[in-house]
Amino acid sequence: MNLKQGIETRRSIRSYTEQKVTAQQIRQIVETAQMAPSWKNSQTARYYAVLDADLKERIAAEGTLQFSKNMNNIRNAAALVVLASENGVAGYNPDGSFTTGLGTHWQSFDAGIACQTFCLAAHDAGLGTLIMGIFAPEKVAELVGLPQGQSVSALIAVGYAAGEPQAPPRKPLDEVLTVL
Ligand SMILES: Cc1cc2nc3c(=O)[nH]c(=O)nc-3n(C[C@H](O)[C@H](O)[C@H](O)COP(=O)(O)O)c2cc1C
Repeated sequence: MNLKQGIETRRSIRSYTEQKVTAQQIRQIVETAQMAPSWKNSQTARYYAVLDADLKERIAAEGTLQFSKNMNNIRNAAALVVLASENGVAGYNPDGSFTTGLGTHWQSFDAGIACQTFCLAAHDAGLGTLIMGIFAPEKVAELVGLPQGQSVSALIAVGYAAGEPQAPPRKPLDEVLTVL
């Protein structure tokens, strides 16, 4: 598949087969995802690949704010990647002040690019993914054992898709694009 096809055919996958995902597969995907751009090439995204079924279950049960859809999404997937970020780097000057008026915004911005790059690399490798924003960041950080100075930016379910969901409709191009 070429890049355009990859972008267009990547879908959020919420139903997976029972086929396992290996650490080696995740390694290869992260190696590609590491090529994502970041604030001053600071590369603050950190990927915690949860393949252990017990830990994954604890994150599903205790780290999803009781949002049952995400509990199921995590239980259903062979693996869960906790995408964390190093705090206080993206968007900051070396003296700790903000570089722009957007303050802390750039940390999430970099995490988002890292997430999508990871998902596209996984798609290219034949794996489905789902980015999840509804979770309890501090609880997930505790369960994963995140070091001081990092925080959880997103969860990504990973596994073999059980089907091929239709793309949810996109807005008309003229609503999202303004040419000046
Ligand atoms: C930042 C972000 C947070 C999301 N959070 C969730 C979530 O918590 N649960 C979920 O099922 N889908 C979640 N999604 C997936 C979106 O619903 C999905 O990307 C959107 O409906 C478009 O579908 P597509 O990814 O198949 O193109 C999230 C996506 C993004 C980018």
